[in-house]
Amino acid sequence: MEEQITIALTINGRNISPTVPAGLTLLSFLRNELKLTGAKNGCNTGHCGACTVLVNGEAKKSCRLPLRRLQNAEVVTIEGIAAGEDRQLHPIQAAFLAAGAVQCGFCTPGMILAAKALLDKNPNPTEADIRSGLEHNLCRCTGYLKIIEAVRLAAHWVRHPLEMKLEMRGGYGRSVIDIDGFDKVQGKLHFADDLYPGGVLFAKVVWSSHPHARIRRVEKAEALKLAGVAHVLTAEDVPGHNGFGSLTQDQPVLCGDTVRFMGDAVALVLAESEEIAAKARDLIQVEYDPLPGVFSPREGLGKDAPMIHPQGNVCKHLVHTVGDTAEGFSRSDLVLEGHFSTPFVEHGYLEPEAGIAFWSGDVLTVKAPTQFPFELKGQLAAVLDMPADKLRIQATPLGGAFGSKADATVEPLIALGTYHSKKPVKLTLTREESMKRSTKRHPYEMDYRVGFDRSGKLLAVDARLVSDAGPYTALSPRVIDQACIFACGPYEVPNLRVEGWAVYTNNANSSAFRGFGINQVAVAIESLFDEAARKLKIDPFEIRYRNALKAGSATPSGEILRDSVAMQEAIAAAREALKEELPGIREMAGAGKKLGIGVAAGFKNVGAGKGKVDDAGAVFTLLPGGRVRLRASAVDMGQGIRTTLAQITREIIPLSETDFEMVTGDTTLTPRHGGAIAERQTLISGNAVAQAAEKFRAALAREAARLLARPATELDLVESGFICRASNRTLSLKELESQLSRQGRTIEIGHTYIAPKTFALSDSEGRKSVPPEEYRNYPSYAYTCQVAILEVDPGSGKVKLLKVIAAHDVGKAINPQKIEGQIEGSCHMAQGYALSEAYPMKGGVARVRTLKGLNMPTILEAPPVRTLIVEKPEPCGPFGAKGISEVATVPLTPAILNAICDAVGVRIYSLPATPDKILDGLSRKRIDRTP
Ligand code: FES
Repeated sequence: MEEQITIALTINGRNISPTVPAGLTLLSFLRNELKLTGAKNGCNTGHCGACTVLVNGEAKKSCRLPLRRLQNAEVVTIEGIAAGEDRQLHPIQAAFLAAGAVQCGFCTPGMILAAKALLDKNPNPTEADIRSGLEHNLCRCTGYLKIIEAVRLAAHWVRHPLEMKLEMRGGYGRSVIDIDGFDKVQGKLHFADDLYPGGVLFAKVVWSSHPHARIRRVEKAEALKLAGVAHVLTAEDVPGHNGFGSLTQDQPVLCGDTVRFMGDAVALVLAESEEIAAKARDLIQVEYDPLPGVFSPREGLGKDAPMIHPQGNVCKHLVHTVGDTAEGFSRSDLVLEGHFSTPFVEHGYLEPEAGIAFWSGDVLTVKAPTQFPFELKGQLAAVLDMPADKLRIQATPLGGAFGSKADATVEPLIALGTYHSKKPVKLTLTREESMKRSTKRHPYEMDYRVGFDRSGKLLAVDARLVSDAGPYTALSPRVIDQACIFACGPYEVPNLRVEGWAVYTNNANSSAFRGFGINQVAVAIESLFDEAARKLKIDPFEIRYRNALKAGSATPSGEILRDSVAMQEAIAAAREALKEELPGIREMAGAGKKLGIGVAAGFKNVGAGKGKVDDAGAVFTLLPGGRVRLRASAVDMGQGIRTTLAQITREIIPLSETDFEMVTGDTTLTPRHGGAIAERQTLISGNAVAQAAEKFRAALAREAARLLARPATELDLVESGFICRASNRTLSLKELESQLSRQGRTIEIGHTYIAPKTFALSDSEGRKSVPPEEYRNYPSYAYTCQVAILEVDPGSGKVKLLKVIAAHDVGKAINPQKIEGQIEGSCHMAQGYALSEAYPMKGGVARVRTLKGLNMPTILEAPPVRTLIVEKPEPCGPFGAKGISEVATVPLTPAILNAICDAVGVRIYSLPATPDKILDGLSRKRIDRTP
């Protein structure tokens, strides 16, 4: 029994004297005992700062702080910084909303408290002061720029509180604040781990100890003897199909005979407390017969490679050809070749996977941060052998996801736990478990050959892409399909051959990651374009402009582009912006450093496409009191889709702040949803909402006209009611609803939007089924050109990114501030991908276990980003809008590599471009020059 201590301290102004275990941390005490869940547990190792609170006015990470050290301390949490009414905000909280510094909101309470500690000591900080004050707090969503802006604004508002102003609501084109922003800055938004259902059993997982092994025996008797242990579940306890997966359900919920990677689950313990569950987990003994493993895709393709699945190690193979590459190369004046490689990358969202499951009557409900609630429901129904209508999935707010929460992690386990125990079950992964279990960006090995004529026209591309799919299928086939479609970049190319492989290995599991296979191929094609521009002495913008896709162009896959093709416009915008910046650029590099400028372009699909039905629905209901409820197919991952949908609604139906509510991500309440993926929601869900809103507005007008006995054409819909122009009579939505309800009626209108039919690249039969002009792979595309300006220290090989120019075609900007936020956050990820991030593995075992080890850029490295929004409306998008959340990650990585080459003449072929690789390149150059 652990020693107990009693300490006296003040929390948010309240004096308390709890008796607690001597080793209890402040974070556990706040969250588990006081239910002050504004402090988040992002890593438990003191690296992320999401648990930051104020202790005697200092910002402290509560996950590393034992309560016993806090005798007589004064603790302030996010719940305590703004005294007063529910909606009252501290100026720092308000500034975070006004500046758009809040995306998923998981880091936000910690950031705000770190900012408060800074401003309390330094009321007028410089930008450098802000960066250093917040350097211990990570944010994976924003790219930090809006956080810096928020702290600057907060400093002003603390001194001038009367100037505080928030744009609460508005329609299309306005930078209104996040619809869930108040909850986010107040720490009231409840993520899955913030939920504490009564009578809950806590789950712990026995993970595989080997990357590839046969399971000989699982001994659970000792664990079951432990008081407080309710169940120990193994493979034989799975009632239905023991497998889950977004495309092929080949990942066991609990492994029965074989483990294929270190993230495989072998047993599940359910107990009355987390501590007991952990103890019981450690008592379970699993005996294995280790098997030889496959640790690279090339090994996996070898003739004598160990077989990971009975059907072999090839997850997907496809070849796509257009024209005649031999002829194209024979006509080329310049032929370039390159072998490029990219590593595994961890998504690095701050919220580790968590979830709860429980029974409501005969319906089993799972609440978890999923991007794919409807697909997940189908998978769990098969696992539990239950009818799908007896399952309900509710997507809890996602503390970042970036693709990884499209695939299930904890959900099959907690559903199984509740199925057997009949009790609520909660499972929250530690950061180490999250990194082991969750999917990663695919590593690629890429061999490219490209041919250009003297004028820089691209004549031929031959590319071979080999991706590491990891042990299970997940979304790997779709990722490699997509990589092949985008392998030639946003350019016209008459002759091409692209071959793609996704190969099973015993490494980490790979799947969706922001960009979905395009980021890797962009590194190769954009590096070769840069090389071609140098060799042909053509401006890097110009060579891209000459080859760029435009309306009427055929994409490399053979789709004829129709509308909203703004590649050339984005290139021209970036070129003009760089011209304006040039006079100041010379002064940017420090003494002894080499300045470099790099350019890259990119495009990405909007909508999942590739044969998947891209649909979404929206239902509007008039509620008592005249409130309007929207139930929409959408999941907000922090990118702000809920705010976007609210703006689309308000553009069509003017509604006050209190007269509107929205439900998303609930398989019982919302229409079917194809997932929060492929930057599809603005276009697909937005269309459903816009079209449903038009119908709902018309229905409201019809009823109002009837009740006012005036033609609908005489009525104007103003905020939350109608006014008759001729008679000046008004009818509020409240009165309308009340009169309808007296007649036993209400108004509920829905609409389903289905995007045009699409085809996978590998679907050759589908291609033949439509006329060539109707063949398409995706509903739409977004285009971008980005410029990296950086300095390289030739002595150390270190790179500092000084500025980014990002020109983006978004169709039409519904919320310009949110678009900037997506671009800045994407640039942050692309910067990490280029310069520092990786998830290295050796023999199937990860070499890093903490967030720190991932080398994600911090606020100290965030460069200014000049965003240029190019608007070329997409006819099938709501108000002409299309997506932005992923495409912005695509070109900056190669732009940085090109800038490094510009600075020091070293071309990096293998990510990340670490100082060692740059120094190595510099020393090779010196050797080459030695006579
Ligand atoms: Fe900072 Fe999501 S808003 S981690």
